[in-house]
Amino acid sequence: MVLNMNIAWRINSLLKHLSKSRNTFGFGVHSPFLFHFTKFVLNEKNRFYVFNNIEQLRSSLKKDYRPIAPLDFGTGDARIRKVSQIAQTSLSSPRKLRLLYRIIHTYKCKNILELGTSLGISTAYMASPSHHLRCVSIEGNKQLASMAVDNLAQLGINNVSVIQSNIDACLDGVLEDFDTLDFVFIDANHRSQALNNYVEKCIKKTNEHSILVIDDINWSEDMHKAWKHLQSHPAVTSTISTYHFGIVFFNTHLTKKHYHMMF
Ligand SMILES: C[S@@+](CC[C@H](N)C(=O)[O-])C[C@H]1O[C@@H](n2cnc3c(N)ncnc32)[C@H](O)[C@@H]1O
Repeated sequence: MVLNMNIAWRINSLLKHLSKSRNTFGFGVHSPFLFHFTKFVLNEKNRFYVFNNIEQLRSSLKKDYRPIAPLDFGTGDARIRKVSQIAQTSLSSPRKLRLLYRIIHTYKCKNILELGTSLGISTAYMASPSHHLRCVSIEGNKQLASMAVDNLAQLGINNVSVIQSNIDACLDGVLEDFDTLDFVFIDANHRSQALNNYVEKCIKKTNEHSILVIDDINWSEDMHKAWKHLQSHPAVTSTISTYHFGIVFFNTHLTKKHYHMMF
């Protein structure tokens, strides 16, 4: 019953998103920065060669039937799952991850934090734009964190530190090691209270050019509540909702405005 209500809520929120959405060509977006973002970053279709390696790895993980002990802090799901199931259902799509790559590449982000590594596929996309960037990614599940380390090594990616810990326990310490955060991707605990807490802490390390991306802002009414709450944060200027992703900007030259975009 709760599940059905959540599905009904998601359908309703998708319809609302579609009715409010602009296209991604930048028309109707007055800020030059956001015009450039929507036209050349959100809407860019070019593929980069690095993605083939990562997607080949994703395909091989879909055929990996090793069991993973249940420890998903985000959903309360206590099932033992196979790597193949995680690779098929829990990871962000190539399309979404190409967008993360493009943001980091375009704005030359150097200090990157990810909350929710899983098998390291999103991490690999975020670490790939430059050898000089530094990416720290936190994963609570011991088996997944260890597989992510192996997967990143297999891809020849060596600018990532995977921290195996509960985010609630380690985030303060991890943030102490950053002077600033240029890019943050939050894809972990899907509960508003946890999300608000993570966002509040990360915002203290953002700068004017930082970009924060939150996955699954319409996953549940509760997650959507956290997204709305974040939009009213004094440090937040503009935001873009692509339905799945919530993209947050802190640039004080932007007028506080919240866009819905097709992606
Ligand atoms: C949706 S998956 C991440 C998918 C990954 N970002 C991708 O797209 O390839 C979420 C991950 O966050 C981890 N997670 C959830 N809550 C956490 C917490 N409180 N501390 C550490 N890890 C957590 C889960 O174990 C899970 O592997």
